[in-house]
Amino acid sequence: MKFFIDTANLDQIKEAQALGVLDGVTTNPSLMAKEGISGDENVIQHYLDICAIVDGPVSAEVISTDYEGMIAEGERLAALHENIVVKIPMIKDGVKALRYFSDKGIKTNCTLVFSAGQALLAAKAGATYVSPFIGRLDDISFDGLQLIEQIRLIYDNYGFDTQILSASVRHTMHVISCAEVGSDVMTGPLSAIVGLLNHPLTDIGLEKFLADHAKVNS
Ligand code: G3P
Repeated sequence: MKFFIDTANLDQIKEAQALGVLDGVTTNPSLMAKEGISGDENVIQHYLDICAIVDGPVSAEVISTDYEGMIAEGERLAALHENIVVKIPMIKDGVKALRYFSDKGIKTNCTLVFSAGQALLAAKAGATYVSPFIGRLDDISFDGLQLIEQIRLIYDNYGFDTQILSASVRHTMHVISCAEVGSDVMTGPLSAIVGLLNHPLTDIGLEKFLADHAKVNS
């Protein structure tokens, strides 16, 4: 399973990259705003800065909600760097835009997906990635993981190439569960990635190894 980090924070992206397990980055307008990135030129520079850190797909989301706007924005974003993936919302004009970009060989990430029907449509429209938001489903008492299983089954039934990018991952158990059900990619915060490191028996074991070594080497 590929690991993407879901942030626009350059320090966190650098930290995940330095760990050597990072495959890509996803951003969204809320994450860009959280970092105080505003204005076209700054937004574009920020995507370029991210692309300079990570050698993998970087999702950049369009703000337009009409077909022509999404095409114009998406083409501008895609031209920035070969690793840019145009992130398109799951709305009617978004589905048309997915088909347009797919036909042009431009990679896309269909975002704000909350149902198997939406995921099926995204795949039919040729999306490179589909982003079901598992954390936000869990927030309203729907089982986010069950949706990933359902999409996995549908995509496997028909051999769709669209990759399942489990999004709105919040913690380490989400990461592990995504891997168990065969998600192609997960995107989550730095804490969900580095949190996988933690086990008290590792810490206790290492302390004992080092203490035993010190006993005979002091
Ligand atoms: O990738 C989508 C993600 O950014 C949404 O996460 O935690 O705001 O539900 P969250």
